[in-house]
Amino acid sequence: METDFDPIEMEMLQLATAARLLRTAQRIACLTGAGISAESGIATFRDTQTGLWANFDPMQLASQAGFSADPGVVWRWYMDRLQRVQQAQPNPGHRALADLEARVHRFTLITQNVDDLHERAGSRSVLHLHGRIDRFHCNRCGFDHALTMQERSAPRPPQCLACGDSVRPSVVWFGESLPGRILDHAWRAAERCDVMLVVGTSGVVYPAAQLPLLARQLGAHLIEVNPERTALSDMADAYLQGPAGVVLPDLLEAI
Ligand code: OAD
Repeated sequence: METDFDPIEMEMLQLATAARLLRTAQRIACLTGAGISAESGIATFRDTQTGLWANFDPMQLASQAGFSADPGVVWRWYMDRLQRVQQAQPNPGHRALADLEARVHRFTLITQNVDDLHERAGSRSVLHLHGRIDRFHCNRCGFDHALTMQERSAPRPPQCLACGDSVRPSVVWFGESLPGRILDHAWRAAERCDVMLVVGTSGVVYPAAQLPLLARQLGAHLIEVNPERTALSDMADAYLQGPAGVVLPDLLEAI
């Protein structure tokens, strides 16, 4: 006889499972992607309607080749994104993760996002695998650059004070390697955690996407929060379908 499939009941069961796993965890690692900033009004990359990549070819903008070909266009694109980030506010999803960090002894937050909304929500230690859009350095000598208000509205990138080459945002571009020390720290957290919480990522960009798989391989439980199913959803111990700004506060409540 067919058992009645009650989606509400299913949802409650997934939430209870996730809460139990987090409550009993000794070490929690959390990987976030663009989805956690979506409710703050920041476009994700691959969502068809609102995705940044829907209107731009990332290879043209987020790459050395794109920057060399037309530094002005790339500079203006990042200055526009930086302004949106700085006008945005952290949402209840960011704040829930900051609360979780405060409640758990060993909690490592790893993000693919280049915004600072986790920090502005109160997260104390954030591993930015793909860099920060509000930091700048010289594209040739690496010299750090403190951006002036004037440079933010300039049509082209500023020149490095040390060598005169172009200044760029300190984000990882396609084809570039991730910051080694940060990646090592994230890798170790994935290896040691007993629960990996994955929020708002399509899980298609490596090596970040490898972290949940590594954790699972080494016996960690997987919890995913995403309104859309991803390749991780079927392997998750709990898949919480919904926006992070709604699901994460409910999850904290349930713990
Ligand atoms: P994507 O745009 O690939 O995926 C965003 C994910 O967030 C999707 O799975 C959405 O279903 C989900 N999502 C949308 N709204 C959400 C919400 N309110 N709450 C929770 N989830 C939501 O973004 P990322 O997976 O972060 O790399 O992309 C990874 C990397 O690809 C980025 O860091 C960037 C890009 O290339 C670099 O720039 C190096």
